[in-house]
Amino acid sequence: MKVLLIGSGGREHALAWKLSQSNRVTEIMVAPGNGGTAVLPKTHNVPVAAEDIDQLLTLARQESIALTVVGPEAPLVDGIVDRFNDAGLRCFGPLAAAARLEGSKAFAKDFMLRHNIPTAAYANFSELSDALAYLQNQTMPVVIKASGLAAGKGVIIAETKAQAEQAVRSMLEHNQFGDAGQQVVIEQFLCGEEASFIVLASGTDYIAFPSSQDHKRAFDGDLGPNTGGMGAYSPAPVVTDKIQALIETRVIQPSLQGLADDGLAYTGFLYAGVMIDDTGQPHVLEYNCRMGDPETQPLMMRLNSDLVDLIEAALDNQLAAFDVSWDQRPALGIVLAANGYPGAYSKGSILSNLPSPSDDLMVFHAGTKLNDNQQPITAGGRVLCVTALGDDFTAARAHAYATIEQITVADCFFRNDIGHRALKH
Ligand code: AMP
Ligand code: GLY
Repeated sequence: MKVLLIGSGGREHALAWKLSQSNRVTEIMVAPGNGGTAVLPKTHNVPVAAEDIDQLLTLARQESIALTVVGPEAPLVDGIVDRFNDAGLRCFGPLAAAARLEGSKAFAKDFMLRHNIPTAAYANFSELSDALAYLQNQTMPVVIKASGLAAGKGVIIAETKAQAEQAVRSMLEHNQFGDAGQQVVIEQFLCGEEASFIVLASGTDYIAFPSSQDHKRAFDGDLGPNTGGMGAYSPAPVVTDKIQALIETRVIQPSLQGLADDGLAYTGFLYAGVMIDDTGQPHVLEYNCRMGDPETQPLMMRLNSDLVDLIEAALDNQLAAFDVSWDQRPALGIVLAANGYPGAYSKGSILSNLPSPSDDLMVFHAGTKLNDNQQPITAGGRVLCVTALGDDFTAARAHAYATIEQITVADCFFRNDIGHRALKH
């Protein structure tokens, strides 16, 4: 079968790598892909942007694509699955109306309130004066969120009322987040440890993936600005069996049931970002309507089952009978990023001394492309993610660090403490 995979990040390289291992797959087209997907077996890139739904639809028709898998959120929120389904094409992901769980934080908060899913107390605003008045009675810190998609940059944790006021003004008055900031969520600050919990869902049936955890801040010690994620590992030791059971019964099951009850039955990957407080209670920070990046990289290293079978089982409502198999060993990935990321950064540095892949080590590319000599060069903020499986976290981490240190490239950095929480547990 021919598969179309949409996206260009490390998540997509990991998904393409796993899809390419399926005996049922003859060819994978990645739109637009990166320097890693360009050289995977059976796989090639096509120069169509992930947001260009018209072109993607034309491509899928022309190429007789049997299955389309969507990596990033933007096309899902824009209704790619609706469009493909209308054209009679199989496309894995939620419909636009259900993808609003990620596309509108205000919608997601109202949804959680309505379905009694634990989350921080909040209020939604589109009028500046109302938001400013509400802030007067809040205790600090408080969290201000642009409701729409903002590539992970739309969340501001304000320590003082002045900062909170400035954040609200930046969104509702100065329009710094464009349409995404036309509505804001103001919510209570939650303390605890974050984890990522991803399921593959088909209506109210789901397969829970092993827990994972990423490092959002740019620098060692969890300092510096928020990023898309500087490293990730699976499992997340904070998610004990007991806490996993709570996440499933208090978050995942009521979310899928609530969606179905609201007429928004969900097919696709559903990602709940949860904060686990010191009594072990999970609260939802956000939903994503897709896999995490870089969480996907360690998760795909651990998945033994055929990913095409898994996705088709979800599309065919056969998840309940699916026996998924995981590698019991932990996996850990370290992101190499361009200097300056998540702000402005330079591109075009040649990457050399990249190790060959092996059963327990993969270098998943993200912001890379091949130059005219077929050498990979940097082309994005997050450049790649070195991901290793190990008998324990210490071994996986040592292998990933030994590998990333060998890579030769100018103007890039990585964190030196990926996995520090996992090791502490
Ligand atoms: P979000 O995109 O909503 O997940 O927010 C991005 C990041 O901001 C999260 O991963 C958390 O680290 C932080 N964050 C969001 N909401 C809260 C909250 N209510 N309390 C504490 N931290 C938060
Ligand atoms: N790593 C966080 C995310 O994918 O949203």
